[in-house]
Amino acid sequence: MVTRRSVLRATLATSGAGLFTGTALSPMFLTGGARADAPAAAALEPFRVPMPVPRVLDPVSRWGGFDAYAMTMRPARKEILPGTLTDVLTYDGEFPGPTIRASRYRPVVVWQRNALDTPATVHLHGGEVRPEHDGQPMDLISPGRGRLYVYPNRQPNASLWYHDHAHHTEAEHVFRGLSGSYLLTDRAERRLPLPSGRYEVPITLRDARFDAEGQLVFVMNDVFNRTTLLANGKPYPYFEVAARKYRFRLLNSSNLRSFMLRLSDGGEMTQIGSDGGLLERPHTTDSVFMSAGERADVVIDFSRYPVGTRLVLQNMAGPGDPALIGQVLRFDVTERARDRSEVPRVLRRLPRLDRPTVERTIELRMDERGPDPKGYINGKVFDPDRIDTYIRRGASEVWTLTNPNQHAPHNFHMHLVQFRVLERNGDSPRPADAGLKDTVMLMPGETVKVQATFDSYRGTYLYHCHLLDHSAMGMMAQMRIR
Ligand code: C2O
Ligand code: CU
Repeated sequence: MVTRRSVLRATLATSGAGLFTGTALSPMFLTGGARADAPAAAALEPFRVPMPVPRVLDPVSRWGGFDAYAMTMRPARKEILPGTLTDVLTYDGEFPGPTIRASRYRPVVVWQRNALDTPATVHLHGGEVRPEHDGQPMDLISPGRGRLYVYPNRQPNASLWYHDHAHHTEAEHVFRGLSGSYLLTDRAERRLPLPSGRYEVPITLRDARFDAEGQLVFVMNDVFNRTTLLANGKPYPYFEVAARKYRFRLLNSSNLRSFMLRLSDGGEMTQIGSDGGLLERPHTTDSVFMSAGERADVVIDFSRYPVGTRLVLQNMAGPGDPALIGQVLRFDVTERARDRSEVPRVLRRLPRLDRPTVERTIELRMDERGPDPKGYINGKVFDPDRIDTYIRRGASEVWTLTNPNQHAPHNFHMHLVQFRVLERNGDSPRPADAGLKDTVMLMPGETVKVQATFDSYRGTYLYHCHLLDHSAMGMMAQMRIR
């Protein structure tokens, strides 16, 4: 029987002090108790299925200076657990959704048809888009209808993703499968000799909970029971690699779970990018952290391993039984290969920060007990008819984010802009947070300062906790740039 205490012990055991530098170690989440795991998932033997790579979506047209895509949101049955068909919600029948590859200055338009039986809206996370194309929570596509989203792609290279954002149902929709990658490249990135082609592999990580029949079970705030880990939609897969460098475009599409990734031999990884594209400099590390919604662009050099090596990508962050959440996938080194790729010492130059003209404080908090917990930003539950923050277009603002909760972690995501992390608990940001970010983690008690410059579109946009069960509980607010 998995009890709350054993989960906590496991969390402490697998987290290891010092992983969250500068933070007192705290359990990731304490509200709610763990139930016995579903047999279908608990009996899973790891590394039995290959990890697929999501299909790159073909445009329906490249005519007229932009790429046009069409997708249908629809229910589907997919084989996730071996031998079982699971009902999921998909973009175009795929779990996770297909990957869109876009280039800077070349707009993308996506016709999204809603063949679900619930209203939906599609948000391009991290994208600089007009408010009417931002997929806002009340701006819904009714079942049977469609809508065209326009993405100008004026921002630099970035690891974006798209997902549902329908008010109150975004958490369940994303949990059931409505997300996909959108990789935006530019000339500066293409000039770099990084691993590319089949050596650049998007990997979407998430957790899930299955019942005994292998069906997904969605319960709000259920992180303790979401203990089956999926990589590109498959449980604990293996992935065959050649003994050379690979670039992995990692996305954590979980609703609540954070990952602290590490190779089983403690070998080094080189983080080269985060949410808003490449870092200024590569960062060599033995662990890569991603809270829900964050991305990490990581190069692993398998040339140091002999053919035949099997390396597990482990997860050191709780909560959960390490037997279930402690390993994510396995890299099997199966052949030698030529490698002309390199990780340059300088990847990009970030623009100098403007002098900020406005300072604000944003408190992210949720009820940690009680029958119907709510989430708050500055003490208020989301109201789509209320503007919480007015911003002058062109302003550069410093926002001090706090998480006063005892146990619940939060993170902070802002639409429209990529921000810079200035400080974490008074210290300089971690190397992985030093690039352009749109989502940043806040453990209980943490304070993070970010700076954003609002120099693109005017209009109303969201900011919220990206632990989607929390935003569904109201932990969301609106800013209007005017
Ligand atoms: Cu990834 Cu407002 O969301
Ligand atoms: Cu939260």
